Amino acid sequence: MEPIIKVENISKTYQEEDVATHALSGINFTIQKGEFVAIMGPSGSGKSTLLNILGLLERQSSGTYQFLSHLSSEYDDQEAAKIRNEKIGFVFQSFNLLSRESVLSNVKMPLVYSKITNEAERTRRAEKAIRAVGLSHRINFEAGKLSGGEKQRVAIARALVNEPEVIFADEPTGNLDSKSGETVMKIIQTLNDKLGRTVILITHETSTAEHADRIIFIKDGKVADEKKIKKKRRANEGFIK
Ligand SMILES: Nc1ncnc2c1ncn2[C@@H]1O[C@H](COP(=O)(O)OP(=O)(O)OP(=O)(O)O)[C@@H](O)[C@H]1O
Ligand SMILES: [Mg+2]
Repeated sequence: MEPIIKVENISKTYQEEDVATHALSGINFTIQKGEFVAIMGPSGSGKSTLLNILGLLERQSSGTYQFLSHLSSEYDDQEAAKIRNEKIGFVFQSFNLLSRESVLSNVKMPLVYSKITNEAERTRRAEKAIRAVGLSHRINFEAGKLSGGEKQRVAIARALVNEPEVIFADEPTGNLDSKSGETVMKIIQTLNDKLGRTVILITHETSTAEHADRIIFIKDGKVADEKKIKKKRRANEGFIK
């Protein structure tokens, strides 16, 4: 296995007026390609800050972050945006869909900035991603009219459409009832199991975290603990075959 993510002594301080918040201090870990890692920890412990740095949305104040084979410091903002678009899929608690647009056009969105310029190919890719989350019957539906669980599945399809190396999910089940949350987790699980996508997911719920191979516990901006999860091989319950 090769590391996809290597974090060395990362710290992040937010300076607002004369108040400094040390959101992260001295974080170290490595994540291998194809791993499924959950990040847990109390509110305000620095989980989202960490995920934003890993997803090249924010920069650390000190330390080094290697994503694929490059240090994040080698990328300027424009290059970071390109890497994000091509290699990373994001899923957030709040879905972040355009509610007046159809499922199809939401999922096609990231392709607007991609190398794929052929419209028929864009549609084909989006249809494939929508099929992967079991929403083909909703393809022309307005996104705002979907249930919460369906919205999150659209957000996952959108994260998948560029066939990214890694999926970052910040509390993807946080706004969902337990049944929809479980459906979303099965899809994320299948992306990892069947398609070999690396997944890094923040959650408050132990039951959600236990879908991962490993849990990293963050407390006061530091890695407090790590735990490997013994996986029971799951039945093939996902939509992806
Ligand atoms: N842009 C910012 N400017 C200033 N302070 C920030 C900023 N973003 C986060 N913080 C602070 O950094 C700390 C860590 O925040 P973070 O959002 O990473 O926590 P979290 O672990 O994701 O919490 P939660 O579980 O509530 O989502 C908090 O004290 C927060 O107030
Ligand atoms: Mg957070």
